Formats: sequence, structure tokens, C-alpha cells
Amino acid sequence: MSKVNQSWGGRFNKASNKIIEDFGASVKFDKILAKYDIKASIAHAKMLGQCKIITKKESDAIIIGLEQIIDEINQNKFKWLIEKEDVHMNIESRLIEICGDVGKKLHTGRSRNDQIATDIRLYLRSQTNDIINLSKDLQVAILALAQNHTNTIMPGFTHLQVAQPVVFAHHLMAYFEMINRDVQRLKDSLKRINFMPLGAAALAGTTYPIDRDLSAKLLGFDNICANSIDAVSDRDFLIEFMACASIMMMHLSRFCEEIIIWSSAQFNFIELTDDFASGSSIMPNKKNPDVVELIRGKTGRVYGSLVALLTIMKGQVLAYNKDNQEDKEPIFDTVNTLKTCIDVFTRLMYNLKINEKNMLNATKKGHITATDLADYLVNKKVAFRDAHKIAGQAVLYSIKQNKDLSELSLQELQKISKIIKQDVFEVLDLKNAVYMRNHIGATSPKQVKKAIKTAKNSLKN
Ligand code: ARG
Repeated sequence: MSKVNQSWGGRFNKASNKIIEDFGASVKFDKILAKYDIKASIAHAKMLGQCKIITKKESDAIIIGLEQIIDEINQNKFKWLIEKEDVHMNIESRLIEICGDVGKKLHTGRSRNDQIATDIRLYLRSQTNDIINLSKDLQVAILALAQNHTNTIMPGFTHLQVAQPVVFAHHLMAYFEMINRDVQRLKDSLKRINFMPLGAAALAGTTYPIDRDLSAKLLGFDNICANSIDAVSDRDFLIEFMACASIMMMHLSRFCEEIIIWSSAQFNFIELTDDFASGSSIMPNKKNPDVVELIRGKTGRVYGSLVALLTIMKGQVLAYNKDNQEDKEPIFDTVNTLKTCIDVFTRLMYNLKINEKNMLNATKKGHITATDLADYLVNKKVAFRDAHKIAGQAVLYSIKQNKDLSELSLQELQKISKIIKQDVFEVLDLKNAVYMRNHIGATSPKQVKKAIKTAKNSLKN
């Protein structure tokens, strides 16, 4: 049997049960918020002092005590106790040990409800900024690889069937665009994260003459939550972050899937350096793309966390409910997973060996210039639908002859259509097919180089 809780046990007779105490405690995981909790407490103590709710002397003593606690935590000397339930009460009771009765004044005009809401916003603001920076590093890595491959021809796919030739850099820049949107989404979400709940107290505000503007200024919040009931119960910003994280993991998982396919013997477009692959315990021949498979796999837990949060919030009555404590582990896990995956993936970008020859050879299969043949006929005044049909017949003929479309002779092509002349071979040329797609957003090396330049400049902002 534990003792009656020191922080809120006044109206309780019976001591809490150890199992139930463990069940309710969050300190095992929320202690990672300590840094933010103390930062918010220092701001609160300053505000209480300046508003004369406590004396300047008391405010100063509390702040010194809190700073000592930061040091203790950083030096791993702080004793986290389950019976103190959570990060807030562990820190507060240590403060009382250090400062004596004056420490008991810190919680004036505040509740753990506005306290935790403030802590997680501070945490998420900092983590979101870190993730934005990591994403930009990834964009730089993608650009560096793309820059070396503006003339590397590979098959572009639809339905994973050879479609039309593209340059590898163009394919890579598609991922640059995805990550760019991820960064924009995260930046936009920061606007809604950066609202301050502190001052809402339990749910209705407080009777003390607090100065919320001052607390917000001290904590770098752009805005103050306008409604105290909403302030303590809102977790939209967490859900929004998890949605951003899910979309970003989905992007990474797509890239990973391509790397897995490309590194197979059948494709052999790329090779992973040894440190990004693993062997098999039984098959000596294996070099498995474990690292990218893991990123692909970790996408699942991030989606899971998003669904967990949405479900935790579903149907919750106003205002704070203990259900909200369940937001911590999913959010911490998502932040850690996303950061690690972006970092590992960025390193991978610098460790890919590109087999340009195999990419080029793959474009020579699959009658990849069939659209170009149709476009050639359109230029000779054939309507596109008819041109499509003629080109299709040429493909069928090639298949029967066990040849690629590009290998047909003029005589063979003319058997299909008299309109076809010697100049068709310029069009059926792979390079030409790529160079001809020369408008904004298309795959010609000229356009792709321009896109890379624009992308590079955009990263400066
Ligand atoms: N550990 C709690 C949480 O994570 C802190 C807030 C507790 N508030 C309360 N009224 N029990 O949500």
C-alpha cells in the first residue's frame, strides 16, 4: 500500500493501491517533457511574480529551484518516482524539497491540464522544427543525386510496366516535390501548434490577475488559446502533426519500395553499399535491402499512432479527460520514428550506386517509343486516334518478330504505314524521345536542370 497522494490526496482517506497507481502513472514516458515543463514553470513563476500574485523573492527562489532541477535531470541525478504520478508532480515535489514552502506556490493559478497542454505544444514546436531541418537535409541529398543524373536515361513506368523514357533525375525530383509538400505542411501546422493554453487552468481560467500575454511572450508563443475549455481539451495539433508524419512516411515508403525493386537482380538499376544491406543467416548469396524495408515497415506504426489519437479524441466530452494521457506514447513514438527514418534515408541517398547502363538497357525493352511513333504520325497529319492504332500495330508486329519497336527496319515499318519515312528513326531514338519533352515540368535534361536550379534556390528560404 502506498501513502495517500501528497499533491491531491486532501479529500482522500484510503491510500492508493500500487497496481492502480502504476496504471495511472505517466512518468515512465512523460519525463521526456521535463525540459519543456520546467521552461513553462519558469515562465509561469516569472509571470506570478510580475503580477504580484507571489512576491518577487518567492518567484526568484522558485526559478532558482527549477534551474537546479534541470541540472539534476541533465546529470541523471533526478529520482523519478512512480508514486508522484507524472512529470509535473515529480518536479513540483522536488521543488518543494529544495525550496521548502515557497515551492508550494508555483501551482498558483494553474492546473496540470493547462500545464500538460502547454508542455506538449512546446515539445512539438521544437520537434517539428527539427523535422523540418532534417527534411531539408534530405532534399539536399536528393538534389545532389539528381544533379549527377540529368542525362541518365531510364524507363518511366505506369502500372510498373515500361511506359516512356525519362531521365533518372526527373524521377528523383518527383520525390523532392513530395518532401517539399511535407515541409510546407509541417510549417503550416506550426501556426496552429504555437498557441498557448497556459492560463486556462483546469478549464475555466483562474481568479488570479494573471498576465497571459507575458507568459506567451516568455515562452515564444505567437498566440493565446482564446477559449479556456478548448485550450485544455484540444489535441488537434497533435493529430495534424501525425497526419503530416503519416503522409511523409508514405512518401518514404514509396521511395523505399522502388529501391527494393531496383536493387533486385531482375532490375539491377542500383546497388546498395554494404552498410545499408544485410546478409542472410542461411543463404550466403543474399544481400538484402533491410534498411529500406524497415522504413517501409515503420510506416505502419506511424499510421497506427494517427488512428490511435483520432480514436482517443473521438466522442470525448469537454474539457480535459484522462484519456488524453494516452496521447503521449504515440506522439513520442511518431516523432522518434520519423526523425530516425528521415535521417537514415538521407544517409542512404549518399550511398546508392547507380547502374546507368542497366537503366539504359531496360529502356530498350518494352517498345518505349511507341507514343513517339504515334506523335510522329500526328505530325504527318494523321489524327491521334488513328496514329495510336498504327503505332499499336507496329508494336504487335515487333512482338511477333521478337524484336523491340526500335529495331524495326524502314521496310518493316512501311508495311504497317506508308506515311512512315526515314526521318522516323530520329523520333524512335531514346535520347530524342527524352529531349523532345521539353516544356516546364517535363523530362528533358534542359527542363530537369532548370527544375533542380529552382529547387536549390527554394531551399535557401
Ligand atoms: N499526465 C496527465 C496527462 O498526460 C497530465 C494532466 C493530468 N490532469 C489531471 N487532471 N489528472 O494528460
